[in-house]
Amino acid sequence: MNRAVGNTVIVVGSGAREHALAWKLARSRNISNLICAPGNPGTAPIAENVECQLDDLQSIVSIAIDRRADLVVIGPEAPLAAGLADRLDDHDIPVCGPTASAARIESSKSWAKELMASSGVPTAHSTIVRNRTDIDRALAQFHSPYVVKADGLAAGKGVIIAENAAAATSAIESFLSGSMGGPAESVLVEQYLEGQEVSLLALTDGRTIVPLLPACDYKRAFDGDVGPNTGGMGAYAPVPLLSKSAIDSIIATVFEPVIKSMVAAGSPMRGVLYAGLMITSDGPMVLEFNARFGDPETQVVLPLLKSDLFDLLLATATGTLDQIPVPSWSTDCAVGVVVASGGYPGSYRRGLPISGLGDDSSTSLLFHAGTATGNDGSIVTGGGRVLTAVGLGESFEIAAERAYTRATAVSFESAFMRNDIASREFSAS
Ligand code: AMP
Ligand code: GLY
Repeated sequence: MNRAVGNTVIVVGSGAREHALAWKLARSRNISNLICAPGNPGTAPIAENVECQLDDLQSIVSIAIDRRADLVVIGPEAPLAAGLADRLDDHDIPVCGPTASAARIESSKSWAKELMASSGVPTAHSTIVRNRTDIDRALAQFHSPYVVKADGLAAGKGVIIAENAAAATSAIESFLSGSMGGPAESVLVEQYLEGQEVSLLALTDGRTIVPLLPACDYKRAFDGDVGPNTGGMGAYAPVPLLSKSAIDSIIATVFEPVIKSMVAAGSPMRGVLYAGLMITSDGPMVLEFNARFGDPETQVVLPLLKSDLFDLLLATATGTLDQIPVPSWSTDCAVGVVVASGGYPGSYRRGLPISGLGDDSSTSLLFHAGTATGNDGSIVTGGGRVLTAVGLGESFEIAAERAYTRATAVSFESAFMRNDIASREFSAS
C-alpha cells in the first residue's frame, strides 16, 4: 500500500453512513481530495460536495473520470444493484463495492438463499412462492408467526411478520401484486427465528476477509421494539454477546463459504459483506445479507476504528487485503441515536429549521442524513432520518449518555428519537 500521498477519493451517497465514511476518510494521511457525490450539509466542511443524482450512474462515472479518482466508495444499495461498480470497472477505476451480479446477495433474497443452501450456511428454512396457488402449500410448512419476505430491494420494508395464516396470505398476495413498487417476481416464506439480532460486517476482496466490529441496530420506530420498521433508529458497537471466538466461528461458517460460493458462481464479492444474524439458542443464523456498509451501524463502527480507512478500502478495491495489517480498534463503546422527523417512516414535513447542532468532540459526533441547506444558508430538515448523534465512552452507559446529550440538544419541530438505544447493555430489566 505504498501509494503516494495525494489520492482522490469519492464517496457516493448522501446519508449519515456516507458522512461517517467521509469523516473517517478525512482523517487519512493518504488522501488530498475527498469528494462526496452528492454528500450532505454535514460533509460540506470536510469534503467537496459534487451534485449528482444517485440514479444517474453516468454522471457519477463522469465525475470519477474527470477527477481521476483513485478510489470510489459506494454507500447505498440502489446504485450497486444498478451496476455502478461495473461501469467504474469498465474504466479501471478502483471501486469499493460489488458488481450488480455480486450485489444480488442483497437485491435477490432467493439468490442469497440458494447460495446459503449450496454452501451450508445456517439460515432459516424457507420456501419460495411464485403465484397465488402456491400459498397454501408454502404456509403448511411453517407455523405462526409466519415470516414473509419480498424478493427484491425494499428499503427495509420488505419483511412482514404475520401472526396468523390469514395475515400471511394477505402479505404474500400484496407482495405478489407488486406492492413494493414493481411486479414482485417471488415471495419467500420462512421459519421464524428468535434471539438477539447482530450485524457483522466484513471487508473482502473476494479472497481475504477482514471482519469489522459487530454492531446491533434498532429497526423499529419506537421504544421497546414496537411500531413500523424503519431504515434504522439507532445502533451500538461492539456487541458483548459476541466474543472474539464467536466472531471467528461466524467468519468460518458463514463468510468463508459464502464468499467462496460467490467466486464459484462467477460473482466474486468485493466491498462489504454484511450479515444480519439472529443469535439463536442453536447458534448464529443468517437473516439476510447486504452488499454494503450498514446504516446506522457504520456511524458507530467507524469511530472505533484506529487504522487508516483509506488503506483498508483501497486494498479491498484492488484485491490486496492480504498485504495490509489487520485493523486495530479502540476498546471504547459507541452508541448512535437517530433523530428523526415526526411522522417517519410515514410522511413528514421538510424544510424545518434545525438548531442545537453543536460541535463535535473526541467523545461526541453528529452525522447528517436528511438535512438540507435553506435559502438563507441555515440547516433545515430534508428527510425522515435527519441526524445520527454518536457518543463514545469507556462503557455503554457513558457512551449512551453522551449520545443522548448530543441528540437532545438538537431541536426542530416534531423531532423524535428512541430513548432505549443500547440500554439493554447497562440497565437491569
Ligand atoms: P431482513 O430485511 O431480512 O433483515 O428482515 C428485516 C427484519 O425482519 C430483521 O431485522 C428481523 O428483525 C426480521 N426478520 C427477518 N427474518 C426473520 C426471521 N426468519 N425470523 C424472525 N425475524 C426475522
Ligand atoms: N441497518 C440495516 C441496514 O443497513 O440495512
